[in-house]
Amino acid sequence: ASDIPGDFDHVLYTEEQVASRIREVAAQIDADYAGREILMVGLLNGAVMTMADLCRAMTSHMSMDWMAVSSYGAGTKSSGVVRILKDLTKDIDGRDILIVEDIIDTGLTLSYLVQNLRSRNPNSIEVMAMFRKPEAVTCPLDVKYVGFDIPNEFVVGYGLDYADRYRNLTDVATLAPHVYKS
Ligand code: PRP
Ligand code: MN
Ligand code: MG
Repeated sequence: ASDIPGDFDHVLYTEEQVASRIREVAAQIDADYAGREILMVGLLNGAVMTMADLCRAMTSHMSMDWMAVSSYGAGTKSSGVVRILKDLTKDIDGRDILIVEDIIDTGLTLSYLVQNLRSRNPNSIEVMAMFRKPEAVTCPLDVKYVGFDIPNEFVVGYGLDYADRYRNLTDVATLAPHVYKS
């Protein structure tokens, strides 16, 4: 789905640009993890596209697991509390963990998650985020792999949603104001 008509303002990254950046990051990960087996942990739902493309662009041995989390509080991300809705199915003791995310906005979700997973005694833990909004980050954290740093605008596509829609847009685009102002 590359054209859900009328709902977008402008394209930030085309499908081709995203694919090309994924290949670069995959090559970097393969080089960094040479000879090691990675346990990639994706965060539902946003990371589905990034996970699917990134792991297929890699040549390293990998396995896959998923978590689902949500922020507590009055609907705001800044409440500071993250609740685990679906936990890992695998034991990560001694494993090399790569958390895969679609986007870092405030950084709250990942700060919590890295802390939580660290307490389970993995051998290593790193983060790959396809997008990051540097202007929005309030919980700074070490992110080893970033696809693109983007402006603090409402973007959708490639897993990123607005009200759960537009994840299937193959480009990454800003949302037209009429969509979220109506
Ligand atoms: C979005 C996004 C990240 C998180 C980033 O997920 O996919 O997981 O928010 O925000 P933060 O850096 O401010 O914590 P969301 O909770 O919307 O769920 P989704 O992945 O199902 O869209
Ligand atoms: Mn998410
Ligand atoms: Mg979302």
